[in-house]
Amino acid sequence: MKATIGTDVMRAATLLRSGAIVAIPTETVYGLAANAFDDAAVLKVFEAKQRPSFDPLIVHIGDRARVQDVVAELPIGAEALMDAFWPGPLTLVLPKQRTVPDIVTSGLDTVGVRMPAHPLALELLRALEFPLAAPSANPFGYVSPTTAQHVADQLGDRIAYILDGGPCAIGVESTIIGWEEGRWLLYRLGGTPLEAIEGVIGSVAQARERVLPAAPGMLESHYAPRTPLFVGNVQQLLQQHAGKRIGVISFRTEYESHACEVLSPTGDPNEAAQHLFAALRALDTSDCDMIVAERFPREGLGAAINDRLRRAASAR
Ligand code: TXA
Ligand code: MG
Repeated sequence: MKATIGTDVMRAATLLRSGAIVAIPTETVYGLAANAFDDAAVLKVFEAKQRPSFDPLIVHIGDRARVQDVVAELPIGAEALMDAFWPGPLTLVLPKQRTVPDIVTSGLDTVGVRMPAHPLALELLRALEFPLAAPSANPFGYVSPTTAQHVADQLGDRIAYILDGGPCAIGVESTIIGWEEGRWLLYRLGGTPLEAIEGVIGSVAQARERVLPAAPGMLESHYAPRTPLFVGNVQQLLQQHAGKRIGVISFRTEYESHACEVLSPTGDPNEAAQHLFAALRALDTSDCDMIVAERFPREGLGAAINDRLRRAASAR
């Protein structure tokens, strides 16, 4: 099989209705989608990604009224969060309906749900009779895809169709928060800044890392290129490793090196997030001995960028 790339929403819908898996665009990263109510279809997602079964999937809906199909109970603040951030890059982990299959939630009694803010994704979800379970469309542990071509490069022989919605506008995955024992906890930094969320529901505590991680966003080695990655002072790292072919991930400065990806010449952390994963992929295929990355200012999506870089680096 070799995936077709196209913009045909009805073709994607027909494939999904037949139990096939389809890559879909969202505003954050591309997802690998299946009918969330079809165990056999969801299993194909796990197989294609080689994802461990203990790692639950996010359920995507196209309409607020559909929340009740997957969520059993809306805790305090949930509706205010949906009003403020949906459609958009915020996933809420909430008590699940019994009808959501265990394979989607890895047997947990909660489900992660979000409404993506991408016109093609919304059109598709609104055309379908069921929600879509979708993790990022990358092999487990690797950098997430932000273009249709990224998906084709890595999973193109495992899926029939990639719905092409252009480059992702946000570029890092959704922020995930969950309701546990009467309070909201942060599981993963992402496309919705934590300060914006706290503006709506007050302070959100950091979830503790667990033996079986609640969110593999919480797994230490994740989002990782194959090339060793180091985060820190780029000028110092370049001197320390003089003679090596070094690829640099820089915020706004052009460094003299084997390859350099400047994420935002104008110094905008949100623009930098948009380009982060494409830059990591480009450096990972440009024959570097190592990749070095700067730390980003914490405003806006800078905190999520630093989180992804830290996890990508701790792979070694
Ligand atoms: O932006 C995104 O969230 C993208 C797009 C495609 O929507 N999706 C995404 O999915 O990043 P994935 O599978 O790569 O990461 C989803 C994270 C996982 O770390 C998973 O553990 C967590 O969500 N998650 C899902 N359901 C959960 C639950 N019931 N409890 C705790 N964590 C959950
Ligand atoms: Mg992922």
